[in-house]
Amino acid sequence: MSNKKIKNTSRKYDAPQYAMKTAKRLFSQLKDQRFRLIAVAVSIVIYTVLNIVTPYYSAIVIDALKAVVDEAVVSGKFSLAWDPLGREMTILFVMYMIMACFYFFQSCLMASVAENLILKLRRQISNKLNKLPMRFFDRNKPGEILSRVTSDLDKVSETLQTGLLKLVVAIGTIIGSLSFMFYYSWILALIFLAFMAIAVIITKIISKKNLKCASERQEAIARLTGIAEEYYTGRDIIKAFNHEEESVGKVYKAVEEVRLATRDADFLTNAVNPAVRFLSRISQAVILLIAGYWMINGSMTIGVVQAYFQYLNMTAEPVTEASFMINSLQSALASAERTFEFLDDEEEVPDTSMPVNIDRAEGRIAFEHVSFGYTPEKLLMKDISFTANPGQKIAVVGATGAGKTTLINLLMRFYEVNGGRITIDGITSTDLTRKGLRKNFGMVLQDTWLFGGTIAENIAYGKPDATREEIVNAAKMAKVDYFIRTMPQGYDTVLENEAGNLSVGQR
Ligand SMILES: Nc1ncnc2c1ncn2[C@@H]1O[C@H](COP(=O)(O)OP(=O)(O)OP(=O)(O)O)[C@@H](O)[C@H]1O
Ligand SMILES: [Mg+2]
Repeated sequence: MSNKKIKNTSRKYDAPQYAMKTAKRLFSQLKDQRFRLIAVAVSIVIYTVLNIVTPYYSAIVIDALKAVVDEAVVSGKFSLAWDPLGREMTILFVMYMIMACFYFFQSCLMASVAENLILKLRRQISNKLNKLPMRFFDRNKPGEILSRVTSDLDKVSETLQTGLLKLVVAIGTIIGSLSFMFYYSWILALIFLAFMAIAVIITKIISKKNLKCASERQEAIARLTGIAEEYYTGRDIIKAFNHEEESVGKVYKAVEEVRLATRDADFLTNAVNPAVRFLSRISQAVILLIAGYWMINGSMTIGVVQAYFQYLNMTAEPVTEASFMINSLQSALASAERTFEFLDDEEEVPDTSMPVNIDRAEGRIAFEHVSFGYTPEKLLMKDISFTANPGQKIAVVGATGAGKTTLINLLMRFYEVNGGRITIDGITSTDLTRKGLRKNFGMVLQDTWLFGGTIAENIAYGKPDATREEIVNAAKMAKVDYFIRTMPQGYDTVLENEAGNLSVGQR
């Protein structure tokens, strides 16, 4: 049931389904860092408050400065006194310093909070991956599972660090600046609000379209990546069957789709800013006209006019960026939601709490009335029974797809039987832990997989504490000792690129 959800990541928009629930869960994961978060919150509050008061102070400074200049014009003597000009300027300077410090402080803290959270989630995912049944991997694409671990969490971290701060500061700034604007002149504030209301409506319309285009682009890129990956891996086959032209054609088509989708998405992203900025410029012109008139007839000081314009810009900027911030917040929540869905996915049946331990199995294996199917509706095996005695060499022969590998999958408990049981030395295999069971088996698969690392490490994969002598002996028995010695660093040759420099047989 929950498997289906993970598969269905191509929702119409990259928006969370349960935003509140996901946000709550994300914050519950931050509980262990609450002191840092409180420090971040305090820093943000101090920063925002100072950000709002500094223009007010700058109005005082400028008006005081203007008084000094006016006096100098009359008396012909220019003097800067500590009281009030020097003092107010120093206060303003200190405020700017404190703002910079708190901004720096909160950026450092938030980066560490976000990365700690991502570390925690990545660890949970890593644990989860080991607890998921094989069925899960049959049903989900590797690329999608990988993106849970990488890009989804990166998005969450990025948004936590920059987006969230911006949003909180923006909200605080808008409220604070508007208060000052109303305090200075409610008429100008209302004019400004009217223009901004139009801007918000435009932004809303564009950002809705933008979300759709962005998700179309995401899909187009995913398709292109899929094709490129497939063609890269299958390059021999493509050449052998003379399919070059056809595959190039398919890539061209995918690239073209990416171009179209990206063009639309980028256009819309970039269209918001000029549109909103244009409106905010018009509003500024109108306000300047009125404020200038008031300044000339003496009902508004020059300091207040410039402070007013600082507040205008401070308020207009977040409104311009609002759609971007909301989009990125939404898509980060959607990423977090996908991660949580993954973490909630059904796990394999837990090991028995009272496991029997077999140190060294004799090797009497029996299938008793086993039935099994990869999907419950379609049984592949019905009532299979046989016994393999210790020391017996047995070959299982059958048509392709008959179920030979499946026998091994069941024996190793990669999948659980639907009925009957499998016993090892008379003990039902579910009475052992998976670890205890698997340590009694050696297994060579149809398609070998070598890990990045030295040849010696790969040979010792099933027995990490094996001595060099044991490793060499094992290699001699498999008749590969000679060829390993011809490698540049012998047993210490590092295998890279999925052991592409070895023949399949050598692997
Ligand atoms: N992970 C899976 N999910 C669903 N069905 C599977 C899965 N693996 C195998 N099957 C199906 O189960 C049947 C048995 O597969 P199995 O791998 O056991 O065959 P086999 O006997 O090992 O064949 P071969 O000789 O080709 O290796 C096949 O019909 C196959 O399509
Ligand atoms: Mg097989």
